Amino acid sequence: MCGIVGYIGHREAYPIVMEGLKRLEYRGYDSAGIALYDGSDIKLSKTKGKVADLEERVKEEITTEGTIGIGHTRWATHGVPNDVNSHPHYSNSGDLVIIHNGIIENYDSIKTELIKRGYVFKSDTDTEVLINLIEEVKKKQNVKLGKAVQLALNEVVGAYAIAVFDKNKPNEIVVAKLGSPLAIGIGDDEFFIASDASPFIEFTKNAIYLEDEEMAIVRRDKKIKIRKIKDDSEVNPSMQELKFNLEQIEKGGYEHFMLKEIHEQPNAIRDTYRGRLLAKEGIIRMAGIDDNIEKFLNANRIIIVACGTSWHAGLVAEYIFEDLARIPVEVEYASEFRYRNPVITEKDVVIAISQSGETADTLAAIKLAKSKGAFVFGVCNVVGSTIARETNAGAYTHAGPEIGVASTKAFTTQITVLTLIALKLAKANGSMSNSVFHHHLQELELIPEKVKEALKADEHIKKVAEIYKDAKNCLYLGRGYNFPVALEGALKLKEISYIHAEGYPAAEMKHGPIALIDEQMPVFVIATKKGHYEKVVSNIQEIKSRSGKIIGIVTTGDVDVKNVADHVIEVPETIESLTPLLTTIPLQLLSYHIAVMLEKNVDQPRNLAKSVTVE
Ligand code: M6R
Repeated sequence: MCGIVGYIGHREAYPIVMEGLKRLEYRGYDSAGIALYDGSDIKLSKTKGKVADLEERVKEEITTEGTIGIGHTRWATHGVPNDVNSHPHYSNSGDLVIIHNGIIENYDSIKTELIKRGYVFKSDTDTEVLINLIEEVKKKQNVKLGKAVQLALNEVVGAYAIAVFDKNKPNEIVVAKLGSPLAIGIGDDEFFIASDASPFIEFTKNAIYLEDEEMAIVRRDKKIKIRKIKDDSEVNPSMQELKFNLEQIEKGGYEHFMLKEIHEQPNAIRDTYRGRLLAKEGIIRMAGIDDNIEKFLNANRIIIVACGTSWHAGLVAEYIFEDLARIPVEVEYASEFRYRNPVITEKDVVIAISQSGETADTLAAIKLAKSKGAFVFGVCNVVGSTIARETNAGAYTHAGPEIGVASTKAFTTQITVLTLIALKLAKANGSMSNSVFHHHLQELELIPEKVKEALKADEHIKKVAEIYKDAKNCLYLGRGYNFPVALEGALKLKEISYIHAEGYPAAEMKHGPIALIDEQMPVFVIATKKGHYEKVVSNIQEIKSRSGKIIGIVTTGDVDVKNVADHVIEVPETIESLTPLLTTIPLQLLSYHIAVMLEKNVDQPRNLAKSVTVE
């Protein structure tokens, strides 16, 4: 949560920091702020609200000259979203200024100590405590800013990505990281600092991702120095080449990122299997699996850990792995797994799924699994993310940057990667015959075109959305492979339109939820030809006889559901294990259109953030 951005170099810092904040707004958007050094003093402006509100506030409040600046977009943890709690925060002397993404857990005891020493606090934040601790250490020990940051951080418990500068030494920014991401873009005599590389992609393709417990001092005209916070040892920076471009993180003519990302799915799925799926040759190539195949083949079971939409992809994977590769799978919410003392052994393989690669609970689950000796495999979208680096091996989904808070293409590309893995293992352990294997590869190769076909129902889906946009509650039902899709459909609706929605296995209806059915209740039922079709049709009849409104997601040309349902939305036919890649599409579009019709903020729904880096 929270986005941080900074610049030091020879250009005007303001436009870089402000544009960077807009790109990082997906990380939090309840308040924003900026601090610039104009050659003689710090100019600071901050406000409750979005980055656009900050832009207006800046025009009224400060001049924007200066070649050093930091900015912050907030997702509140300590202290309500208001002007005072917004970042940046000054130290008491007004010399130091800080931005922070994370949580200082022991801030209360530090604050009490600092108050005893005469410090006063304007905000309720843990961040203001940290900057004053840095100031206190700097004064008391008579050390430079970098050393003071290091000593102070050795006293704190929690997570942070910070950037600090001192108005008396305005040729350097000190940054540090533990638990929250921090990327440094390396230009010619200039440095960019950000929570991810998107704010500086048009300026440089060279970046260093700080590791946990590392700090760096970036100085104009000097080489970057990275040190370990704990023992002060020097670290050799490892430079990464950034592979995405500006176009990929812009809206490209779509009204919202979510809509753009829904429509990107044919390409995103193709990019994800490109070079891995060789359908004609009957080969799946995945270095992360090839190099570790014995671990998977000898595993007692696979445990999948994830959160939110990624957890739903994990549930789909459970069906795929067990059905196709006959490997036992357990799927766990990372947040539960990490705290429930699970039984994990060296014979377990843990797959962690995360779009952002920064989700705190998933990261903690990985660390726990590793400490018990399990082999941990990551399925991440963001290249170089913490989870991608923390796992023993992994496979990226090549979805490209996902900016909309509601996950769309991340979900379908995660399923694509997990399908490739399951097929590879099924072939390797002999659970699948050659001909069935070939058939699966061919069908998977056709999916991008079929997703394109499913997207063509957009106008029809919009009409259905218009009819149900004022519903107060909705049910989503599916069976087998499409039960997780029902959960995902309900989550999409909840998070962007704020309509209460529940996903259920269709057959569970009669064990309780059926009591909810009346003529006011829209029920979205996934009823494709493959996968318990007749059973689902019976479930639909049960709803119909209780006057529920039925919207069926059906296979093109379906007749039986059409006869009973109030509306149907068609998706092309495919093999059962691949149906989630198609049935998800209309549910994403439905949620999108309902949210737009209700005038909700589709890309930045209330109370949410794109990557949840707090537990
Ligand atoms: O980045 P991750 O995939 O680890 O994120 C997990 C969840 O926070 C995420 O899927 C969340 O549920 C989305 N808002 C769903 O659309």
